[in-house]
Amino acid sequence: MANLRWYKIDEKIPEGDFIRQITLAGKKLCLLRTENKIHLVQNSCPHAGGLLSTGWCENSQLICPIHRYAYNLENGRGAEGQGDYIHIYPLREEADGLYAGFRQSLFGRLFGRDES
Ligand code: FES
Repeated sequence: MANLRWYKIDEKIPEGDFIRQITLAGKKLCLLRTENKIHLVQNSCPHAGGLLSTGWCENSQLICPIHRYAYNLENGRGAEGQGDYIHIYPLREEADGLYAGFRQSLFGRLFGRDES
């Protein structure tokens, strides 16, 4: 089972659909809501580094604005033929706000650093 370290998202979460870049645990990430669900994913497109937080959502997929590659927001998989994927961070709702889980390597567990 993955060892996760949970970080509170301090950003104010807007109503309705949104997409924006946030910084959490020292990483620039893409936070968004579409179809009433909040997602946190990597912000750099695996194709050529486009900023996914400047993209948009269509049919539960996140679209990169640079070459319009599409990524499934449930499992991170790129659309057919792309052969790539994005990292999806698990989210947990607590009484005091929203938390995101980051995997920790053995090194991270020993020295308090995060892997992804
Ligand atoms: S950089 Fe994202 S699709 Fe090419």
